[in-house]
Amino acid sequence: MARIVRIGIIGTGKRGLKLLNYILLTEGVEMVAVCDTDFTAAEKAAGICAESGRKIPAVYGGKKDSWKELLRKENPDAVIITTTWDSHAAIAIEAMKMGIYPGVDVPAALSVDDLWQMVGTSEETGVPFMMLENWSFRRDNLALLNMVRLGMFGKIVHCHCAHSHNCIDHWFFDSTTGEPQWQAEYLMKYNRAQYPTHAVGPVLSWMDINRGDIFTEIYTVTSAPSGIYEYFSKKFGEDHPNLKVKYRQGDIVTSILTTRMGKTLVINNDLQLPRPYSNRWLLQGTRGVYDEEKGSIYLADHSPAYQKWEPWQPYEEKFNHRWWQTEFPLTAVRGADFIMLDRFLDAVRTKGRVPLDIYDAAVMSAIVELSGISAEKKMPVPFPDFTNGKWKSSKPYFAL
Ligand SMILES: NC(=O)c1ccc[n+]([C@@H]2O[C@H](COP(=O)([O-])OP(=O)(O)OC[C@H]3O[C@@H](n4cnc5c(N)ncnc54)[C@H](O)[C@@H]3O)[C@@H](O)[C@H]2O)c1
Repeated sequence: MARIVRIGIIGTGKRGLKLLNYILLTEGVEMVAVCDTDFTAAEKAAGICAESGRKIPAVYGGKKDSWKELLRKENPDAVIITTTWDSHAAIAIEAMKMGIYPGVDVPAALSVDDLWQMVGTSEETGVPFMMLENWSFRRDNLALLNMVRLGMFGKIVHCHCAHSHNCIDHWFFDSTTGEPQWQAEYLMKYNRAQYPTHAVGPVLSWMDINRGDIFTEIYTVTSAPSGIYEYFSKKFGEDHPNLKVKYRQGDIVTSILTTRMGKTLVINNDLQLPRPYSNRWLLQGTRGVYDEEKGSIYLADHSPAYQKWEPWQPYEEKFNHRWWQTEFPLTAVRGADFIMLDRFLDAVRTKGRVPLDIYDAAVMSAIVELSGISAEKKMPVPFPDFTNGKWKSSKPYFAL
């Protein structure tokens, strides 16, 4: 019988509970512990485990570093880290030192220094670090990856992606009172791509970043923070206290990245203007182009009409990735999250490689700090090679 994987969750807020609910639908996993600085939040998570009929996990919390006690006393096989951004790095580094696989929600860390430390710790300890970037596991993105690997787009030349998601009205601030949540602090302190990983995650494997290519430079420009002020004045009136605050964060952040092999990438961070959700993925190669927002594709060697778009959906069906050729335990389950956790837990169970490793995590997350530095300096800044040259010989691994 397959080994039971012993898991802890640190950070049992909105995202932690979502992932907990998916884990409770998975066989071969025991939730051994939950932890949150807010002890009541950890108790709530334990209650959800009890309601599901599973064993009640040990509850830790009340202090900023209660997670240390969890790691030491429970020694789980893996921890899922869904805390606020400021604590991901410290918890993941300590977990790896203890031989515990960290599965870390996005972004993995906020500073390039922390990312280097995480890379060093994973290399020294040999403990894999898993980046829980769920959009890399989406059905459309994986089908596209299959097609890229079949050479249907020719040589990849350029990609575009965005996180276009109005988070001002529910994630940064309370939607009814406008009260700042923990994320709002970052809008006051920084002007940068605060949340790039959902956009860029899938692109890394389309462009073979860290496996045959690397980013060399990033150049970022930002717009004024006009939308954020208009939101508060329209929704809460001119006297709302949030209008007296100085927000540094521009509404639209545009980063241009170049690669060693001559590819280019544009990333937009677009989190505070009213608009429908979109990731605006676009991939262009020497033999074709895919446009996610249009739901369209054109392939010079396959499309029936010369230089005319055709619908994407039939391609998504035809090149459906094997990870999506499965039944999910409940229809309400978001497939990408479920597949991501399933692959992580499988790696932990077999003590094998994780699908998105520390190098993927470092590249996706470094964009946060580097975009801010570039915007401030108004010039391109070099992108670190977190693989220390291993990108030249590393072969693609994700989703093979
Ligand atoms: N992948 C996705 O689709 C997705 C979606 C939403 C959020 N997220 C990510 O998940 C993480 C959590 O976001 P959220 O929306 O759940 O926020 P949240 O505020 O709802 O939850 C965060 C929880 O972490 C706890 N916490 C903070 N510091 C801690 C520490 N040192 N030890 C233990 N607990 C601590 C807080 O008390 C809180 O309960 C963030 O990194 C966010 O970017 C990812």
